[in-house]
Amino acid sequence: MAPRLFLSSGDLRADRRFEFARDLQMKGDLLAAADLLLQAIELVPDFTTAWFTLGGIREELGERDAAVAAFEKAQACDPADRHGAALRLMRLGAMPLAAMPEAFVQTLFDQYAPRFESALVGQLDYCGPDLLLRAVLSVRAGERKPAFFKRAIDLGCGTGLAAAAFASGVDHVIGVDLSPRMIERARATGLYAELEVADMLQGLRTKPDASANLILAADAMVYVADLAPVLVEAARVLAAGGLIAFTTETHSGDGVILGEGLRYAHAATYVRATLEAAGLNLSLLQDRSARNEGNMPAPGLVVVAAKA
Ligand SMILES: C[S@@+](CC[C@H](N)C(=O)[O-])C[C@H]1O[C@@H](n2cnc3c(N)ncnc32)[C@H](O)[C@@H]1O
Repeated sequence: MAPRLFLSSGDLRADRRFEFARDLQMKGDLLAAADLLLQAIELVPDFTTAWFTLGGIREELGERDAAVAAFEKAQACDPADRHGAALRLMRLGAMPLAAMPEAFVQTLFDQYAPRFESALVGQLDYCGPDLLLRAVLSVRAGERKPAFFKRAIDLGCGTGLAAAAFASGVDHVIGVDLSPRMIERARATGLYAELEVADMLQGLRTKPDASANLILAADAMVYVADLAPVLVEAARVLAAGGLIAFTTETHSGDGVILGEGLRYAHAATYVRATLEAAGLNLSLLQDRSARNEGNMPAPGLVVVAAKA
């Protein structure tokens, strides 16, 4: 489960009321919890965490309009949107599908970093890097080419699990991630020649044309709504014959949706069309789950595409 973010109101009395409200919420007394949150908000009207928590409670109570109003308040109190109120508004249909707030992703993974591997690998059966490795090996075997890559870029590198999986097949790996704490962990592995705290699109934009032979994104595209700009940049940065390999979550409809786990799911038809529009040739697309969601494998895709 994602860690819960608390942003103090700066007022001890309001913070205490918030803590009591959380206790009541945990015990299932949602009405009393909402009442206490309103008291906290009366003391500090721009208490972001209280508004955000109230939004969740209103949603649980089936009060959609009140939930939307509370999430909008949370968003207005913290325009960077570290809680990700925008995602809740998208899920409630009160906002069109849009990019994830950068501060939300950064805060989420900064908090997650110390227990990321035990939570994801240990509890959610995460196997994204291994799926990518097998997919790339199978594409290379089909092409009768060695699975060795001189220069690789790992987008959304996290703590470095993908670089570890590919360690024997790459010379020089650049890791890019929005979360400084995840980057710290990646640095400690010693597997990366370079590491950058950056959005993956910005990270790609700073790379010269034809400067990479392999681009990886293990469980990172699920945080990117619109894959088109990233794939266009990846196509520019890949050298001829280079590969991009990524996992994503998927759904049986069309286009892109925000799933219940607040990660994007890309339809296979969308992935195919977006790769084609970027000038990349699809080499492999498999239905494979990289991790569990609610004790069930989350429907997913493993994708490998090549630059001609
Ligand atoms: C679930 S983790 C996966 C980490 C790693 N690839 C692995 O396989 O263990 C997702 C990572 O993607 C990063 N991330 C999400 N959106 C990003 C973006 N737009 N640009 C760069 N990194 C991003 C997060 O900070 C997080 O570290």
